[in-house]
Amino acid sequence: MTPPSPSYTKVIHSSTYAGINPTQPGLSTADKVVLITGASGGIGRATASSFAASGPQALILLGRRADALAETATIVRNSNAEVKIKTHETELCDASSVRSVINAVAAEFGGIDILVHCAGVLAPVVPLLEVDPNTFLDGYKTTVIGTLATAQAIVLANKIVSPNEDKPVTFINLTTAGIIFPPFTGMGSYVSSKMAAVKVLEAFATENPQVRLHNVHPGFLETAMSAKLSESIKLPFTFDDISLPADFLVWIVSPEAEFLRNKIVFAAWDVDELKDRKREIIGGPPGSGDLWLSYQGFPRYMGGQPLPGTQ
Ligand SMILES: NC(=O)c1ccc[n+]([C@@H]2O[C@H](COP(=O)([O-])OP(=O)(O)OC[C@H]3O[C@@H](n4cnc5c(N)ncnc54)[C@H](OP(=O)(O)O)[C@@H]3O)[C@@H](O)[C@H]2O)c1
Repeated sequence: MTPPSPSYTKVIHSSTYAGINPTQPGLSTADKVVLITGASGGIGRATASSFAASGPQALILLGRRADALAETATIVRNSNAEVKIKTHETELCDASSVRSVINAVAAEFGGIDILVHCAGVLAPVVPLLEVDPNTFLDGYKTTVIGTLATAQAIVLANKIVSPNEDKPVTFINLTTAGIIFPPFTGMGSYVSSKMAAVKVLEAFATENPQVRLHNVHPGFLETAMSAKLSESIKLPFTFDDISLPADFLVWIVSPEAEFLRNKIVFAAWDVDELKDRKREIIGGPPGSGDLWLSYQGFPRYMGGQPLPGTQ
């Protein structure tokens, strides 16, 4: 039997539900240009359909495989014929090609409002004692360098089309619960690269305050990545329906989820409970509140004075 999942909310979901339905008016992306990486398969493909249902100005789909991107576009058009879709074959590790693709998109549509970064790779699932140090950074290339190249390209492209303002952009990064769970044998290469990406983006968003960053653990989904994972280990989780992360990602970019900026959330968590706990989650000064990467037991003193509740 699968053990219960640790959660921040009492209610957890494994498929979509009314609170994250992308057709509700509060989740409308009318006038927004939405760019999705990793749109050629898995979570990115499902996310493209969910964003199409929220009525964006344009959907820009990135991936390396042209045929698979075209397939995603066909699936999306079958349910949302009127949505404007553009696909671009892009290798995210090639920073100059990422820049030229994103510059062209920004020039055509007047900038990019939302980035949903679903592209990802699974680094070899082997114990760290067996990892070849010469290839260890291969997984980091897409996960860390590709993520940085994408973030830079979006902000720089927006500066070209809007030189007189720092155009706001919402950046959704797909991460893994592994970065906050106790380690699973064999997952060290993947999890450490996902953690590095989160820290890179935390710093990037601080340096570029027009970036509204959210890190989302999508759940456990039946995709090419999880199929590859299952060749090596069996994780003690049951699969969620792909409609859960796809619709949740539309909710997280909405104005009502702005309070989760710079936090790490799971797509399974009930959005009504999250909204009810808004004050605890935001906290006081920067670096306080719930749902961010902190160091348990710290701080205990401030200026030599014990902090309330620590003694
Ligand atoms: N599936 C899960 O259960 C799960 C759980 C936790 C977190 N996640 C995270 O969720 C995200 C999506 O995972 P998924 O399961 O949907 O994976 P997936 O089915 O393997 O899809 C990955 C996508 O990333 C693209 N991609 C990979 N490397 C790329 C590169 N160098 N340049 C451009 N595009 C690249 C692939 O497109 P091409 O092949 O066309 O390049 C593909 O569209 C990942 O960040 C993953 O770490 C997934």
